[in-house]
Amino acid sequence: MSIPAERSVRAAEWPLGTRPEGELRVDGARMLRRLAEISRIGARPGHGITRLGLTPEETEARAYLAGECHRDGLVARTDQAGNLVVRRARRRDKPALLLGSHIDTVADGGRLDGTYGVMAACEVLRVLAEHDVELDVEPVVVAFTNEEGAFFPYPFFGSLGLVGQVDTDHAKRMSAHGVALPDALRAAGGDLDTIAEAAWAPGSVAGYLELHIEQGPVLEEASLPIGVVQAITGRTVLDITVCGGQDHAGTTPMRMRRDALAVASRAVLAVERLARSRDLCRVATVGKLDVEPNTTNVIPGLVRLTAELRDGRAERLRTAEQAITTELAQLASATDTTIDVRLDPVTQPVATDHALSRAIADAADELGLRHLGMDSGAGHDAQIVAAIAPIGMIFVPSRNGISHAPQEETDDLHLVAGADTLLRTVLGAGRP
Ligand code: GLV
Ligand code: MN
Ligand code: MN
Repeated sequence: MSIPAERSVRAAEWPLGTRPEGELRVDGARMLRRLAEISRIGARPGHGITRLGLTPEETEARAYLAGECHRDGLVARTDQAGNLVVRRARRRDKPALLLGSHIDTVADGGRLDGTYGVMAACEVLRVLAEHDVELDVEPVVVAFTNEEGAFFPYPFFGSLGLVGQVDTDHAKRMSAHGVALPDALRAAGGDLDTIAEAAWAPGSVAGYLELHIEQGPVLEEASLPIGVVQAITGRTVLDITVCGGQDHAGTTPMRMRRDALAVASRAVLAVERLARSRDLCRVATVGKLDVEPNTTNVIPGLVRLTAELRDGRAERLRTAEQAITTELAQLASATDTTIDVRLDPVTQPVATDHALSRAIADAADELGLRHLGMDSGAGHDAQIVAAIAPIGMIFVPSRNGISHAPQEETDDLHLVAGADTLLRTVLGAGRP
């Protein structure tokens, strides 16, 4: 994509050579090289990256990152929640300014969602350390684990650990494909029994900044290099189980069937209608569906699916949830099936902090990067960290708006411009 404003082009070209004297800049080439290196972990040709939270691939990525940080003279350790926490070697006894994102992906995901923000944050920390920059906050990088919840369906696990909100009973009971979450966490370097120690006391965190790809089309359509996030969407997930009657596909007359998949199909469309025609929430998706026994000549007896509803307003999410619960109860009684609906913990929408957003906008202005205030339709660790500290988020454009897919991409110039914006925001927000 092209960047229209002449000032923006010059700013975005700084990492390619024109560095105004005396101004700190990230080493864009170094950041991009490391981003390329970490992107090999979990990559499968033609399928993007599968580096699911709390799996060996994510652990390998954490180890790679820790190694690079140690090489830079930084200190990296894994906390009890499986997050990698990176500091400068000489610790200052000051409130922390956390910089971070996640290093896990969805299945067949892209290389930038989460990981870009982590690699950029590490680059910023390295520049601050190299120049021995003294701030009135201590910048600390956190690479969160299992933000996506794609293997263990416990999204935001790492950031929930950081704010002391992991439900340990729930986590103890959770397993996926025969692997228990507590065992996977131990293999990742964490420990569910002592996870409370991963929590940061509220006064110890001055703020949290997250740099992320937009994952949508807004910045690209507006030809703008930087988004300043104003609010992050809320998210409700319902686990739905449709129980019908398994039977012979050749001999059971249509009038006698209780086909769980046919009923689930109606449920899928009812979920879609919540957003598409009823406007009860912004978006509604069924992204997961398991059919039993999933055999060509057998009428499905059981279907498990998830309904994911998102909106920026908590009351709209509640209304949509109630509407679909009522509709599914009616569907069950009309089809002689049972439909069980279980509500997962709701992720509330949150607003970002005005002062941090101002600092981001100022930083972009200083760099000559045009910016736009916008809401995030994706969820982010930032909205969890908001429970203990003010948050700010920076977006860079996503090519064709695509994310959670192998085609996820952002121009290198934008990646570097975003990292420079993060650096300048830290300098602006943390200068004594
Ligand atoms: C996070 O990736 C989300 O699903 O919004
Ligand atoms: Mn994601
Ligand atoms: Mn993400």
